[in-house]
Amino acid sequence: YVQYMYFCCVYVPSSLHPPESLRYYEEFAFRPDDKLIVTYPKSGTTWMQEMLPLIMSGGDPASVETLHNWDRVPWLEENRALILNLEKRPSPRMFTTHFHYSMMPPSFFEVKPKVIYVMRNPKDVFTSAFHYFGSTSFLVKPGPQSEFLQKFLDGQVIFGSWFDHVKGWLNAKDKESIMYISYEELLKDSVTRIAQFMEKSLDTEVTEKIADRCLFKNMKKNSMSNYSAVPKEIMDQSKSEFLRKGIAGDWKNQLTEAEAEYFDAVYKDKMKDVKYKFVWD
Ligand code: A3P
Repeated sequence: YVQYMYFCCVYVPSSLHPPESLRYYEEFAFRPDDKLIVTYPKSGTTWMQEMLPLIMSGGDPASVETLHNWDRVPWLEENRALILNLEKRPSPRMFTTHFHYSMMPPSFFEVKPKVIYVMRNPKDVFTSAFHYFGSTSFLVKPGPQSEFLQKFLDGQVIFGSWFDHVKGWLNAKDKESIMYISYEELLKDSVTRIAQFMEKSLDTEVTEKIADRCLFKNMKKNSMSNYSAVPKEIMDQSKSEFLRKGIAGDWKNQLTEAEAEYFDAVYKDKMKDVKYKFVWD
């Protein structure tokens, strides 16, 4: 039995997001040099939690080797943020959030810290979520694929509608402080682009080292990033590994032809006013 809270029109499991955590984020004071990873779940969050600290530290692997991803680049809306003493962390601090743009707290709009917004082909987000939801105890069981598909398209899943999330962030006011990048672009290597946006100059050797560490096969071996520290009762990786496939286009192995067509029709309708050219289009 999973208890959910209905917060700002999206569902979040209350075990991870008790009211105190949401209040903490609401009142959080950003610093101008904070760096924020923003994603809809299953879009490449963990990957960016590996890449960004490596870029910010000029390639020093200490943090990715000694800190779990959730402590290294903590979620501001999760209960763990309450005990991490984030106010005492030296700048530049790095945080993660799955919040929609419209849910961001007042300080975010005043301070305008840099954001890296990672998006992914929603059919792959759906596929990844379908496997992930089935392996965790704190998320509602996905049920049959066709039912989960409808829930996903209707936004009746954790953190609500993918369409609203992406559209909200694409329509953000202060776009110069936001870097939009896709999972599909990350697969083609983008350490240099992200470093440039973060105003970090890295030499070729360091850039290559970072890219290598962030390869799926190498991240899978990093016990600080592969969620192996989470007890099986919470996340059962024998059902589906957290770092599951790490490819683009796995939806082709998951959706029936009819489901894919239906998905495309909903996508076309919901995204009709969006001018952004997605890499997966
Ligand atoms: P799959 O389930 O399709 O394999 P998030 O961290 O936002 O929850 O996203 C998880 C997805 O990102 C999973 O997708 C996971 O395998 C993938 N992923 C994580 N690290 C990756 C990497 N280094 N390279 C490619 N994919 C990665």
